[in-house]
Amino acid sequence: MYFHGTSKINENNHLEIGGVDTVELVKKYGTPIYVYDVALIRDRARGFKQTFDKLGIKSQVAYASKAFSSIAMLNLAQEEGLSLDVVSGGELYTAIAAKFPADRIHFHGNNKSKEELELALDYNIGCIVVDNFYELELLEQLTLERNTQIAILLRVTPGIEAHTHDYILTGQEDSKFGFDLQNGQAEEALRKSLESKHFKVLGLHCHIGSQIFETTGFILAANKIIEKLVEWNEKYSYFPSVLNLGGGFGIRYTSEDAPLTPDNYVKEIIIEVQKQTNSHQLPMPEIWIEPGRSLVGEAGTTLYTVGSNKDVPNVRKYIAVDGGMSDNIRPALYEAKYEAVLANRPLAKVEETYSIAGKCCESGDMLIWDLPLPNTVCNDILAVFCTGAYGYSMANNYNRIPRPPVVFVENGEDQLVVKRETYEDIIKLDLPLHSKINL
Ligand SMILES: Cc1ncc(COP(=O)(O)O)c(C=O)c1O
Repeated sequence: MYFHGTSKINENNHLEIGGVDTVELVKKYGTPIYVYDVALIRDRARGFKQTFDKLGIKSQVAYASKAFSSIAMLNLAQEEGLSLDVVSGGELYTAIAAKFPADRIHFHGNNKSKEELELALDYNIGCIVVDNFYELELLEQLTLERNTQIAILLRVTPGIEAHTHDYILTGQEDSKFGFDLQNGQAEEALRKSLESKHFKVLGLHCHIGSQIFETTGFILAANKIIEKLVEWNEKYSYFPSVLNLGGGFGIRYTSEDAPLTPDNYVKEIIIEVQKQTNSHQLPMPEIWIEPGRSLVGEAGTTLYTVGSNKDVPNVRKYIAVDGGMSDNIRPALYEAKYEAVLANRPLAKVEETYSIAGKCCESGDMLIWDLPLPNTVCNDILAVFCTGAYGYSMANNYNRIPRPPVVFVENGEDQLVVKRETYEDIIKLDLPLHSKINL
């Protein structure tokens, strides 16, 4: 049994997180419920930030809020001195509502609308990560109309795709994101941006993948980018002040995963960029990163109540919980794997293997296959670990199931930070037939 952060078994023989008994949490809030270990999020944020600080490297650690965005989460990111990466008007609006410092917000996305860009300009955010020529033109038009200047990063695809243990080197990357570094698109984008008096070109951005367990891919990407920068420095006398290497740092979902610590990820990348820039007598740029999963993933645990069961003799034993792909779509979408325990009796002898089914009307709604557990009965509480990233943020109302609440726990205290959706919430946007209400 592996516990993340402050999770442990307490004197009542229950799973405890952040000093709070999960069985008591269930009595108070019901199930399903997402529980976040705030101390673990703080620890991860500090791990990334302090590594840069100790090495004396100017940096921004931007929380990729797509992993889990809510007002309290963004308040926490602000408290920890993080910057913020948003990818839509909705994420930006949440940041504005949370009063997140505008100058530390970075706006991503491969198809930002005029309205979204206008919102970003109205709020005067720190920088826009420009993804393509369409956006470059649209943004120039908008800044021209307002007679203003905006800081930008250009997102480039360096031809490296990192997937967990493998990385693939490609001449041209087949990706919907960014300007290709190899085929001249990135250079053209840089030239156009430098010509415009409406852009302050801070530098380049790349993001090579997710759930990455080594630094090789990041280092390869940084090297490819610096190679080009050396060339562009000679041609355009331009060298960026910022190099943003994205997110993607892996976490431990199951015993098969062996992630590095935040300082290990960061140190090797910094050393390589320093080596490369020194060798070309170029200045060291600020290094920005955008961790999402590695800040919040392991901090989240979902608590469910066990309900029905089904025994297919000599094949499989199923138990069903009161949630599923509506609160965690990752197993159905990516065959993502998770570990779980019974929160109300984590030390009970393991004697069965169950597959954990969700309650959605979809055969693919399985949360975990073949999980060793004690003999499990109706009303046991199942705690699924590592659901803090892309769980709530990808939650949906399939089958009109209301989304669970989110509770933060820290130092023995619990705090509701997102309310449970109600059936009224589910129908609140619906209009009856012939209602004749126009927009
Ligand atoms: C541009 C960008 N930055 C950061 C992230 C965060 O990645 P992760 O949550 O794996 O750290 C993503 C994830 O898709 C991304 O696309």
